[in-house]
This record gives sequence, structure tokens and C-alpha cells, in this order.
Amino acid sequence: MANSAVQTTPSNPTPQPPVRRIPPGPFGNPLVGILPRLADPLDLYTDSFRRYGDVVRLRTIPTRAYYMVAHPEGIEHVLSRNAKNYRKPDAFSNPVRMIAGDGLLVTEGETWQRTRRLMTPAFARERLDRMSEVFIRLAESTADRWESIDPDKPIDLAREMMGLTLRIASETLFGVDVPGGTDAFAEALRVGFHEVNLRMTRPLHPPMWLPVPRIRRFKAAQRHLRSTVLSIIAERRGSGARAKDDLLGRLLQARDSEDGKGLTDLQLIDESITLLVAGHDTVGAALAWCWWQLGQHPEAMRRLQAEVDSLDGGRPPTLADLPKLQWTRQVFEETMRLHPPAWGVPRETLEDDEIMGYHIPKKNIVTLLQVVTHRHPDFWPNPDVFDPERFAPGAGEGRPKYAYFPFGGGPRACIGAAFAMAEGPLVLATLARRFDVALVPDVKVEMDPTFVLKPKPGVFARLRKRR
Ligand code: HEM
Repeated sequence: MANSAVQTTPSNPTPQPPVRRIPPGPFGNPLVGILPRLADPLDLYTDSFRRYGDVVRLRTIPTRAYYMVAHPEGIEHVLSRNAKNYRKPDAFSNPVRMIAGDGLLVTEGETWQRTRRLMTPAFARERLDRMSEVFIRLAESTADRWESIDPDKPIDLAREMMGLTLRIASETLFGVDVPGGTDAFAEALRVGFHEVNLRMTRPLHPPMWLPVPRIRRFKAAQRHLRSTVLSIIAERRGSGARAKDDLLGRLLQARDSEDGKGLTDLQLIDESITLLVAGHDTVGAALAWCWWQLGQHPEAMRRLQAEVDSLDGGRPPTLADLPKLQWTRQVFEETMRLHPPAWGVPRETLEDDEIMGYHIPKKNIVTLLQVVTHRHPDFWPNPDVFDPERFAPGAGEGRPKYAYFPFGGGPRACIGAAFAMAEGPLVLATLARRFDVALVPDVKVEMDPTFVLKPKPGVFARLRKRR
């Protein structure tokens, strides 16, 4: 066969330009392509994957498009192997910047590299001890409060989890509840993030200088967040208590290994708000979805409770128990497979690239979607079924690394992944040890693809005290 191929080759072939394979994809409306379908992005992406496969071109206005990549090999290429050819797009970074400034989530190049180097030690696994005391103490105090709730009155566990994870984020970061109260701070974060969301998902917005109520509310929220964080930093620098072993203390003390310099106050404000934003809603949403899944799978709940009850004397868990809470961890991981809090990771090509044989031009957006890949039938049999056994030790053998990437990957992977993987299971175990949950029947819960994938309208349940 090889020989006959050689014989048919012309003796003096004219060099041909390389064939550029363009990914398949929906044409949509002749003028605005798929833009109207962005009103329901989850439908657009799952449907496009089903129809067109692993690399899809999504046409927007004439001559413009963006791309989605659903195959682990393509995801690894973008996040890790060829990460240097990608940046975060302005359409993502600029709205985030409005609330979190130039924090780690949005900086690029040397600025990002230096800050990441400086901040990484604060998140080391070995330094989770003090943080985990906070997770457990605040989960216990939530359970104490739940004791006084009328067991016939449903509560929204999504709201409860967001409140709890914000208190955890504030205390692990600042060592205290925020001055002026967590409620005011949470409200400012909510208002701020609402605006960020609108700017990420809608095409038209009032300019920031226009004194309409929406912009005024946003600016007030922005001022509240920044002045609160600045007052905490100033207090800490002034009191000489910068050595306190919370995240802020660690960031105040951090010095760059190359130039010996630390973070400025402005950087500390941006990084603190970034950590609050990136670190509370994500874990809160994951926990809310866990309760929703456990409410529907009583056998998984019983097994989780049996696991925590088996800790000697039925005491509350500690960080040292984490290896024994294997099933609890599997429940948390499987929940993030089906409901990934960070449901998409956007990137922009710096130069032309080729992903799985398809040409991707420079300065184009490539979107990686956990919400699609985590249910890819080539890697997840019965993809829509909740089955924590998929994460049992050894069960993932042969599964490509990027078939599951709730924390992203490559150099820009989540800095708080170990933190979240301790916080989630410990909070779950602490609360499930003390309460059963019975979901309010017939409430249709949908995935709400805001910045974080949240359950809409919430997770409504009645609580039953166990001990
Ligand atoms: C279940 C919880 C969490 C999920 C699902 C999650 C997910 C992610 C993902 C997917 C990224 C990468 C984004 C990208 O590449 O564009 C990321 C980055 C980041 N996360 Fe998380 N995260 C979680 C918890 C946390 C926590 C607890 C913290 C902090 C305490 C945190 C802080 C950050 C920061 C600062 C970045 C930016 C890192 C960089 O670009 O260098 N996250 N997170």
C-alpha cells in the first residue's frame, strides 16, 4: 500500500496551502447567528454538542464566531499544553474587574505570575488546619440555629449555604466577621455581582456615568465593599497584628521570592474581594446542590450519615478525619460533576491554533464547558445519573484527566481547590450528622447559569433533628 501511494504522487507537486478544517456548528439567524439563543446558554451548548460534537463553531454576527470545546483532549490543550497561547477574554475580565479590581482571577502575564507565586503558600494543604476549625465551628453554629427552626416550616438550603460559606470566607480571610455586619457586606456583594452578571450575559447596558438607580446602587455596593476591606487592612497594619494566621495575615506577610516585595494596600483590597467572590458562592452552590441530590437519594444520605457517625463516639468531624470521609467526598465530587459551580471557562487565542485538527483563528474566544464535558457520554456512562461510586478509589482509571475539571486546570487552575475540597465535605458531614433533610415535593429546580451555576428557585426542605 505504501509503495503504490508513492507511485501515484506527481513528480513535481505544487506546494498546497494547508487545509484548514473549520469546526461544524449551527448557522442560526443570518444576521445575528446564535446570539438570540444565548438567552438559554445551557440549552445552546448541550444541543450544539449533541448535534455537532467535540469542537463546535458558534456563529454570531456575519464573519464572527466563537468556539466551544467539549473533549478532554482539546480542554487539556487549551488549559495546559498550549496555555501560553491563551488569555482570559475582556468580556469576562472587565465585568469581574468592576467589583474585584485587578485580582488574581483577571490579571495576566507577569503581574499574574508574581501574585500567584506570592499567594500560593497561603493556600498550601498543610496550612488548612486553622481554616478547617472555622469551617466546622461555623457549620456547628448553623446547626445550633437550625435547632430552633419549626420542623414543619421549609427553609431554603441554597440561601443557608450561601450565608454559611460567606461567613466562612470572611472569617478565614479576615479572622472576624466583617465590620458593619455580614448581611450588609453580603448584600453589597450580591448587588455588585448582579451587575457583573448582567454585563457578562446581556449585550446592552447603561454607561457607568449615568446616574440611574441601577448604576447608583452598584456604585454604593462597590464603595461599601472596598471601604470595608480597606478598614480591615488598615486596622491590621495599625494594630501590628498582621501576623495573625488567617489568609489576610498570610498575604500581609507574603514576600516575593524574587524581589522580596509584598502586596500593596490596593492589591490587598483587590485580592481580598477576589477571594471572597471566588471562594464563597462556588462552595455555597456546590453544597446547595449536594443537599438537593441527597434529598433525592436517601440511600446516599444514610451512607454519608453512617460514615460520620462511625467517627469515634459519634463526635463532630475534624480535618484529620477527612481521609475517613471518603463517601462524603465522593458525594461532593459527583455533585460538582452534575452541577459544576464554575460551569464554563472562557479563553481567547493570542495566535492561530489547532484544536483536535480544527483551525481556530487568533483573537477568537474558545469556551470550555464543564457543564457539557462532565456529562460527555464517552467518559461518563449514564451521564445524567447521580452515582458517587464514579469517584470511588480506582473507579476513574482510564478516564482522561480533563473529563472532570471543576477547578479548571493548568497554570490558572483554582488556587482554592484544596480549601474547597476540605470545606465542602467537612460542612456536609457536620450538618448531616445532626439533621435529616426532606425536600419539599414538587418544586421544579433548574440550573441557573449565572456567574456560578445555582439552583433556581432554591433548595427548599424541612429539617429533621437527628441528635
Ligand atoms: C467548589 C468551589 C470552587 C470551584 C468550583 C472553583 C472553580 C474555579 C475555576 C474553574 C477556576 C479557574 C478559572 C479559569 O481558569 O478561568 C478558579 C480560579 C480561582 N479560584 Fe476557585 N473555585 C472554587 C473555590 C475557590 C476558593 C475556596 C477560593 C479561595 C479561597 C478560590 C479562589 C480562586 C482564585 C483566586 C482563582 C484564580 C486563580 C488564578 O487565575 O491564578 N476558588 N476557581
